[in-house]
Amino acid sequence: MFMPNRTLLKVIVLGDSGVGKTSLMNHSSRYVYKRFSQQYKATIGADFITKELEIDEKTGHFARQERFQSLGGAFYRGADCCILVYDVNIVKSFETLQNWHDEFLKQVNPSEPDAFPFVLVGNKVDVDGGSSRVVSERTARDWCASRGNIPYFETSAKEDYNVDDAFLCIAKTAMVNQ
Ligand code: GTP
Repeated sequence: MFMPNRTLLKVIVLGDSGVGKTSLMNHSSRYVYKRFSQQYKATIGADFITKELEIDEKTGHFARQERFQSLGGAFYRGADCCILVYDVNIVKSFETLQNWHDEFLKQVNPSEPDAFPFVLVGNKVDVDGGSSRVVSERTARDWCASRGNIPYFETSAKEDYNVDDAFLCIAKTAMVNQ
């Protein structure tokens, strides 16, 4: 199909297993891209890719490092944006964000690492009406502030809360490099 002004964005989604990466992508409806395209007169086709890695509890290293490295270059090449996702109810998923962030930059090796567009998403804010939450919004925002003011969104893929806003920002952020 011919799509004039089509921009393909390569967005890499990283985060621990189970934080909701797939659910978020499924909920990032076409509505986001329609809105975005009306605004920018371009139709956005986003190529969302999920990569899951586990960190070895004992060594702190990526458990599947070999596989990761062999896929690394081709898999990440040309990424326009990286979405880091954690679960606000699981502290470990927040603590591993730095590993995801650093490993991504190592693989992509952008010319200006400090300027590379990241977006942080704190997902599952709906769980137990928020009473199970262990990572505060303040903690997450501080983390973002100390890494070049990464945009931050709190979402619930389950209740479709804030997901469109997050993905609209992601699309805009990714477009910066186009
Ligand atoms: P991997 O594929 O293992 O990397 O997991 P993932 O990060 O893609 O997580 P996935 O989207 O598969 O979600 C894991 C589980 O969490 C599923 O049972 C989802 O239904 C659930 N889930 C995802 N998002 C939310 C949310 O916002 N709130 C709640 N309560 N559950 C969620």
